[in-house]
Amino acid sequence: MSSASVTAELDAVLGDATARLAAAPDLETITALDAEFLGKKSAVTVAKKQLGQLDPSDRKAAGQAINAARAALEQAVADARERLAVGARQAQYESERLDLTERLGAVRRGSLHLNTQARDRLEDVFVSMGFTVAEGPEVETAWYNFEALNIPDWHPARGSFDTIFVNLGEPEQVMLRSHTSPVQIRTMENTAPPIYIVAPGRTFRTDTADATHLPAFNQIEGLVVDRGITLGDLHGTIEAFVHAFFGGEVKTRLRPSYFPFTEPSAEFDISREDGSWLELGGCGMVHPKVLRNCGIDPEEWQGFAFGFGIDRLAVMRYELDDIRELVNNDVRFLRQF
Ligand code: DAH
Repeated sequence: MSSASVTAELDAVLGDATARLAAAPDLETITALDAEFLGKKSAVTVAKKQLGQLDPSDRKAAGQAINAARAALEQAVADARERLAVGARQAQYESERLDLTERLGAVRRGSLHLNTQARDRLEDVFVSMGFTVAEGPEVETAWYNFEALNIPDWHPARGSFDTIFVNLGEPEQVMLRSHTSPVQIRTMENTAPPIYIVAPGRTFRTDTADATHLPAFNQIEGLVVDRGITLGDLHGTIEAFVHAFFGGEVKTRLRPSYFPFTEPSAEFDISREDGSWLELGGCGMVHPKVLRNCGIDPEEWQGFAFGFGIDRLAVMRYELDDIRELVNNDVRFLRQF
């Protein structure tokens, strides 16, 4: 035996070990190869033990070759271990990966319901004129829905509201509000003038649904209470709102009318393209009795109020043939807006 043959043998072992480590599919295989190539019965260990049998002049070179082979084998085992660890980490990343760019086909964006769009626009217009938005409950008592608004129970106007009563307490004392006017009362009760509010919300009557009526519909109420308020302020406000909502071409007019909670009272109309007029809502100067019912002195404060249907406004603005389209929930219709 010579250092040359030892070197040749270890080279062959190293080639074999490197190839098999590179192909090792798992940690157990690598551990087995580690024992085979670096353990007690491995070629490097055996060669080292046999060093003493070599010619002394050859011993040093052979020793160096054995150490180099051992180092190379250790490195090959470490590399193989690292290769598997990297692969395992990679597999874990892959399995835990979230694809944040994933899309489920072509997504159609929804849109707000026509009523919501109309209501949002109305609020925007009035807020830009200095009003704030108020709210009230949909279930009301006779006091707020009628009495405080100067509609006592003997009053003929009470019958004209087609009220839906709730079976609670005394008969006909609790109801689904038949208009948004009770929010006027609630606001005046809780707020010292000056008051500039609009109150949009759902309202209910026993009406049968047809092309122009819905039993559950939406109104918006306006209320201003301040010093020195006149009918001119009322008309100016309605005109400014109509222009902001429909555009400059639309004209407005007030027609004398009657509501128990306003004096004088009027109905207001807006002009249609064909020159005819469309009735939009009621309005007037807040009745002194109504102010007094809310603890406001009519000698010091005056006010105007108005109320109209939001659904009808949507019908007009979007030129719908039938108000029921608003509640049929037919996406083919709704999707157009
Ligand atoms: N509340 C009335 C209705 O539903 C509408 C109305 C008329 C409201 C005149 C007002 C008003 O504030 O001043 O028919």
